[in-house]
Amino acid sequence: MDSERMQQHFYQSNGNEVALFRRAAEQRVPVMLTGPTGCGKTRFVEYMGEVLGRPVVTISCHDDLTSSDLVGRFMVTGGDVVWTDGPLTRAVKDGAICYMDEVVEARHDSLAVLHSLTDHRRTLYLDRAGEVVRAPDSFMLVCSYNPAYRSSLKELKPSFRQRFVTVAMTYLPPEREAEVLVAEAGIDAAVARRLVNCATAIRNADDVFHFEPPSTRVLVTAAKLVASGATEIEAADVCILAPLSNDGAITDGLRELAAASLLGAATSDPTATHTPGGSRT
Ligand SMILES: Nc1ncnc2c1ncn2[C@@H]1O[C@H](COP(=O)(O)OP(=O)(O)OP(=O)(O)O)[C@@H](O)[C@H]1O
Ligand SMILES: [Mg+2]
Repeated sequence: MDSERMQQHFYQSNGNEVALFRRAAEQRVPVMLTGPTGCGKTRFVEYMGEVLGRPVVTISCHDDLTSSDLVGRFMVTGGDVVWTDGPLTRAVKDGAICYMDEVVEARHDSLAVLHSLTDHRRTLYLDRAGEVVRAPDSFMLVCSYNPAYRSSLKELKPSFRQRFVTVAMTYLPPEREAEVLVAEAGIDAAVARRLVNCATAIRNADDVFHFEPPSTRVLVTAAKLVASGATEIEAADVCILAPLSNDGAITDGLRELAAASLLGAATSDPTATHTPGGSRT
């Protein structure tokens, strides 16, 4: 089945990633998700957490994240100095899925604590606390990053990358992406298809414009605005086009491309319930 609407988290699959994740979980190997912003990485992990019946502990990685932030530290509470587990240690002890988002942002020395956890040892060594924590079978490490943000200063080491099953995620094919918009925003299928066509036209122009293409996330936001009464052109303008550039200034070329795809999709689709004229002010 492509999608599981009974789940709390709706996830539209895009290939064999659900089966691969299950196999990785079964074999107790970690998973690395790569892909552009808003393509569904976080949603996928939340969904798999539900499918596998395991809690998901998310850690957002950044430059200042230390290994102590991950594993824990001694803290003074009420005059006593007590060890307090960090989120990684708690996730290991709870047999949860630990999701390290934008892992490429973390410093190499902070990630070193993951090495013994991500090979056959599946063990976390809490040197300062003098504790050795063996991961239960249900513990799983999942990391993600967006390759487009990578700079030479922020490369993951091969010794880290090669510990993972790597699943390269990307945007859904248009029909499935439109289904996500319908499920997430409750809009009409024809409107969803037009918004997806608009994003597809811009994505195809990516080589010319050199920007990170509009994501499924911005399409969902645009669909939500349309559901609350915005016109498709308005929604495309503020959700799809404006975030493409740093200053929010949209080139005329892009605006024309978006308008043409919204219009083209509407006129070429006999099932469309919204005429382009009717959806504009
Ligand atoms: N395959 C999908 N199934 C269902 N919803 C999706 C899917 N892909 C994207 N979405 C929608 O897009 C939104 C953004 O997706 P998500 O947060 O998972 O992106 P991401 O890849 O984690 O992005 P980032 O790298 O910026 O964190 C979700 O909240 C959801 O509404
Ligand atoms: Mg995410």
